[in-house]
Parts: sequence; structure tokens; C-alpha cells
Amino acid sequence: MKFIVLTLFKEMFDAFVNTSIIKRAIDKEIVSIEVIDIREFTSDKHNRVDFPPYGGGSGMIISAEPLSKAIDYSIEKLKNDSNDFEIIYMSPRGKVLNYNLSKEFSSKKYNYIIICGHYEGIDERIIEEYNVKEISIGDYVLTGGELACQVFMDSVIRLLPGAISEESLLEESHTSNLLEYPQYTKPYDFRGRKVPDILLSGHHKNIAEYRKEESIRITKKFRPDLIDKN
Ligand code: ADE
Repeated sequence: MKFIVLTLFKEMFDAFVNTSIIKRAIDKEIVSIEVIDIREFTSDKHNRVDFPPYGGGSGMIISAEPLSKAIDYSIEKLKNDSNDFEIIYMSPRGKVLNYNLSKEFSSKKYNYIIICGHYEGIDERIIEEYNVKEISIGDYVLTGGELACQVFMDSVIRLLPGAISEESLLEESHTSNLLEYPQYTKPYDFRGRKVPDILLSGHHKNIAEYRKEESIRITKKFRPDLIDKN
């Protein structure tokens, strides 16, 4: 799976691609992430990418001109790849990301061109011209799409085969509309709070049952809305 990210703030992706599980997935060639600066595609001498909105109003809008060139360049790069591709725009008005949507994106075997907006957004004609899919990471507004893009990529990449162990995927929150049970590790006694004895019993069936009950208890406590979906 390939991600091509179009942004005005490339440096925001430095830590993301160089850390932990995402770095390992890149090193193992499970995924590639290329980050491209939209500003490189400007044709005016001041390298301007944004202009005030027609009709007035606050903020600046990223112009269709450099952005379309950046998209065309990205499409060209993916042209000879056997996988199909989709163009995504991180936007607070998009479809809200959840576990099932991440799973859909990760199982599609597509490549993705992701547009990160900043300021007041991008020219609407880009969305129409390229049949862009809009994704939001939640009902709040960020200053730009870069963090949202990283959240999106992280949630998709970790579900790709080989990125993390199959076992951790099976038991994690949201796979079955239940939140994950509480976890404990050393020390056994932390300020008088001891690890539940059953977890030291070595009795796998009882431990599995206990964890299931705990999952249900935790879900009822924190996300009762999920219980209704079971
Ligand atoms: N850009 C700004 N806010 C956003 C959000 N909530 N989700 C995705 N992209 C965004």
C-alpha cells in the first residue's frame, strides 16, 4: 500500500514516518509514505498557494492550480502500479472515521493520495474534478489536515497484514463492539493494589471468561452505546 501525502507542512510527518510501528512497517515494505510539498507546484514567483475566498470571508483558500498539479504528479507516480487508487481530503465535513472504516481502507489494497488542507480549506472544484473522498477524524476542527492524516494512516497501516501481531488485533477494543479488558504487568503489588489472582492462575479458560466479563463491564461503564450494537 502506498500513501502520497500532499501538504504545506512536510516537517509534521518526520516523526511519524521515523518512529515505532509505522517505521517498522515502512522498513518491512508493507507500506510506503511519500510526503510532497504542494508549494513546489506553484507557478508564480512568490510561491503563493493560498488566496482570499471569492465572495469575501475570513481566512485563505488553497488554490486549485498548485494543488491540481500536485495531484496530477501523484497520479502519474501511481499510474503503473497494479493497485487502484483513491484521493482523500482530510476535512471536518467528511465521513467520520471509525474502526470499521479503517478496516475497509486497509483491506481494499488501494493506494491513497491524501490532501491535507490548512487555513480555511481547499477550492471546492478540486473535490469535484478528482472525485475526492472526504474523511473527518471527529466532530471538532483542527488547524490543518496533517494530524488528521496521520491518525487516518496510523489506523489503516496497523491493520495491514504483518504490521502488528495478529493476536493483538484479535483482542483489541472495537473489533467486536467491546472495549478491551484491563491489562496488568509487573510489579504484582503496586501501592497495595494487587493484580487479580485469576490472571496468575495459569487457567486459560477461566482467564478468557474473566476477561470477557471485564470487557463487558468496561464497555457498559465507558461506552454503553456500544453494548446496544452487540
Ligand atoms: N481538518 C480540520 N479538522 C479536521 C477533522 N476533524 N478531521 C479531518 N480533517 C480535519
